[in-house]
Amino acid sequence: MTSTAPAPLSIAPATGRLGVLTPGLGAVASTFIAGVLAARSGQAAPIGSITQMAHIRLGHREEGRNPLIREFVPLASLDDLVFGGWDPISANALEAARVAGVLEQGDLSSIAAELEGVVAMDAVFDQRWVSRLEGTRVKDLPSKWDMALALIDDIERFRSENGCERLVMVWCGSTEAYQEASAVHDSVEAFEAGLKASDANIAPSQIYAYAALQSGVPFANGAPNLAVDIPCMRELSRRRGVPIAGKDFKTGQTLMKTLIAPGLKARMLGLRGWYSTNILGNRDGEVLDDPENFKTKESSKLGVLDTILQPEDYPDLYGNIDHVVRINYYPPRGDNKEGWDAIDIFGWLGYPMQIKIDFLCRDSILAAPIVLDLALFMDLAARAGQSDVQEWLSFYFKAPQPATELEPEHDLFIQQTKLKNTLRQWMGEQPVTHSEAG
Ligand SMILES: NC(=O)c1ccc[n+]([C@@H]2O[C@H](COP(=O)([O-])OP(=O)(O)OC[C@H]3O[C@@H](n4cnc5c(N)ncnc54)[C@H](O)[C@@H]3O)[C@@H](O)[C@H]2O)c1
Repeated sequence: MTSTAPAPLSIAPATGRLGVLTPGLGAVASTFIAGVLAARSGQAAPIGSITQMAHIRLGHREEGRNPLIREFVPLASLDDLVFGGWDPISANALEAARVAGVLEQGDLSSIAAELEGVVAMDAVFDQRWVSRLEGTRVKDLPSKWDMALALIDDIERFRSENGCERLVMVWCGSTEAYQEASAVHDSVEAFEAGLKASDANIAPSQIYAYAALQSGVPFANGAPNLAVDIPCMRELSRRRGVPIAGKDFKTGQTLMKTLIAPGLKARMLGLRGWYSTNILGNRDGEVLDDPENFKTKESSKLGVLDTILQPEDYPDLYGNIDHVVRINYYPPRGDNKEGWDAIDIFGWLGYPMQIKIDFLCRDSILAAPIVLDLALFMDLAARAGQSDVQEWLSFYFKAPQPATELEPEHDLFIQQTKLKNTLRQWMGEQPVTHSEAG
């Protein structure tokens, strides 16, 4: 059976400069910027980046077509990226990188001047949402509405001073305290009234998201707090024709979980419990040491197993799982986290078995390529005329934001297929189904 290829989307070319704006210039953002600078000067390969290193198969296997993704879809080039951000503490990306201690001095020295040139703009910051941080480089304005307008001014100034054709924003700020959506998040009008009244339920990340979308700038959320996953932001993104995505970069322990759980399920092996604990000593760990901030993270991490394992369809295998996640702030480790997983599984005749993982991971090293890919793919989506939630980017998130009432996919391999098939479809190629026929 032959089927015709889908009509390609009309995608505007990636001409000119693309500005990548990060609220939060901490460990992840500075490692991302440093890595791009190193990659474009040929000092290091952009390892971990799908946009830079992955190939994509096209058509039937026998056709042998397997280009690099960046040669298949029109992505902005690393040479065209410029960086900016806001932070209540870090003065610039070099200082942020030195404080974070992710990269060694030897790797920073040749790009130090460029990193120092990424000067943090004063942040919209409120300690109520991140109790462990004392912000000094903050906007001091009468209302949240004034803060939103000030961010819109910052965005426009950045755009014109850097000659940017387009911008994207990726939230790399601290995880904010836990909150549920409330009436002020119900519609754009309610949210704007809330900004003017400085409603206590509006968190800083939401003010950045509002400013971005009003400015026509796509917004991706790398942290687990609410930002664009509230009705008013979805409405605004549709009105302004701007893509959004979230949330919480998928790195470390959750990455491992989404690699292993689909494998257990594919082989119909049972799971009785999964205990995850880890130690980390960076600023993120310090922020997450507060129970309110950890609660936001915990809810993002816990959803993963249920959606992958579908206990309602497999009650004998996955109907009775104890899933526990702990994060412990332990300064000696800095950004070099250690995560332990004790996984209790069972097999034929119910016989129990155990898997132990000890992952000596580097959080920001895993997160940095995600920031790059999200920036480039969100820019692609905008040029392809997309708006609202980009579920095809679930691959990058711990708690993928759903575009419909249905639960988003958590299985990394299904997410990868969805991402690649979306690119194929946009470019007028057949999806690859891996069936005998293809
Ligand atoms: N590193 C990872 O693997 C990973 C994975 C998933 C999610 N995340 C999330 O990404 C975010 C960044 O992580 P990190 O390791 O770089 O943390 P970090 O603490 O080094 O950096 C966060 C920065 O955000 C700044 N900040 C706080 N509130 C702000 C505001 N209102 N406006 C602007 N800046 C603000 C802080 O001053 C800090 O410099 C965190 O929310 C973290 O939970 C990280």
